[in-house]
Amino acid sequence: MEATITEAQLEKEFQQKIDSGIVIEPKDWMPERYRKQLIRMMSQHAHSEVVGMLPEGNWITRAPSLDRKAILLAKVQDEAGHGLYIYSATETLGIDRAEMMEQLHTGKAKYSSIFNYPTQNWADIGAIGWLVDGAAIINQTALAKCSYGPYSRAMIRICKEENFHNKQGYQILAYLMRGTKEQQEMAQDAMNRWWWPSLMMFGPSDANSPNSAELMRWKVKLHSNDDLRQRFIDRTVPQAEAIGLTIPDDKLRWNPDTRHYDWGEINWDEFYAVISGNGPCNHERMSARVGAHEKGRWVREAAAAYAQKHLN
Ligand code: 3HC
Repeated sequence: MEATITEAQLEKEFQQKIDSGIVIEPKDWMPERYRKQLIRMMSQHAHSEVVGMLPEGNWITRAPSLDRKAILLAKVQDEAGHGLYIYSATETLGIDRAEMMEQLHTGKAKYSSIFNYPTQNWADIGAIGWLVDGAAIINQTALAKCSYGPYSRAMIRICKEENFHNKQGYQILAYLMRGTKEQQEMAQDAMNRWWWPSLMMFGPSDANSPNSAELMRWKVKLHSNDDLRQRFIDRTVPQAEAIGLTIPDDKLRWNPDTRHYDWGEINWDEFYAVISGNGPCNHERMSARVGAHEKGRWVREAAAAYAQKHLN
């Protein structure tokens, strides 16, 4: 009689696959905790993409030129695609779209803190593209090598588009910094308002990250929150200096010994307030998402009725 393989042996074999760099596919055996962690992280990533359309979408009709309108329209459409891509990758883990939507709309699921800040003027659209998508590139480039096949493949496609997002945002600020005094002040004000919330995108400090150890053991996260944050700072500071923007951190300085920037301290009270629903725009973002979902109900019902009638 074939000996039954124990859960412990299955977990041991699973960890050996992870340690040897084998990519896990939906049909492979995986610990229930691995599946749950991926659903949490991936669905919240998808939510972030979709909610992230709101602050920028506000400015499509107010773009300063037809070219800028076309570029912003393309970017916002890309973000919608990123969300759908990652929702589909998450569904391979056995959760359906309706359940993920319900988790977002009832506040059970999070989305990135950064999208709870208001976009006050056109310079904010530059700051989002340059800083927010810049932070996303650092994070998602790492995820493109993660252990779960559908997630890593989604990231490869998404990172290509993020680079366009990042460059168009940087170009907006570079133009403003070559403009009038008012335009330069507008760009610097956006820098001041978006710098620290962009650093918060990478999550709590490593010492306060309850999920990182497990996610790194399973090579879902290949680098820690603080490591990726430092990479983002090291990459972005020279870009700011190149166009004459000042980073709003008086402790920022290059450390020749570590060959990284030393920098100040994130306001963690602000971070935890925003991720618990008390940021400047949390309520506005959620009511916009719930409203859009309600308005789209008839489309989902019509598609389901058509599928029922013609495709079964
Ligand atoms: N915003 C909201 N919640 C955050 C957060 C943030 N910036 N950083 C951390 N959190 C939450 C975590 O979700 C977790 O809460 P939960 O257990 O209820 O889900 C808690 O704070 C503790 O944080 P951990 O560090 O333990 O959590 P993780 O190990 O999951 O790390 C993360 C957080 C770095 C965001 C990680 O989940 C991750 O890399 N996710 C994938 C990338 C992603 O979601 N990016 C969001 C931006 S997408 C984007 O920018 C789109 C671009 O096109 C503009």
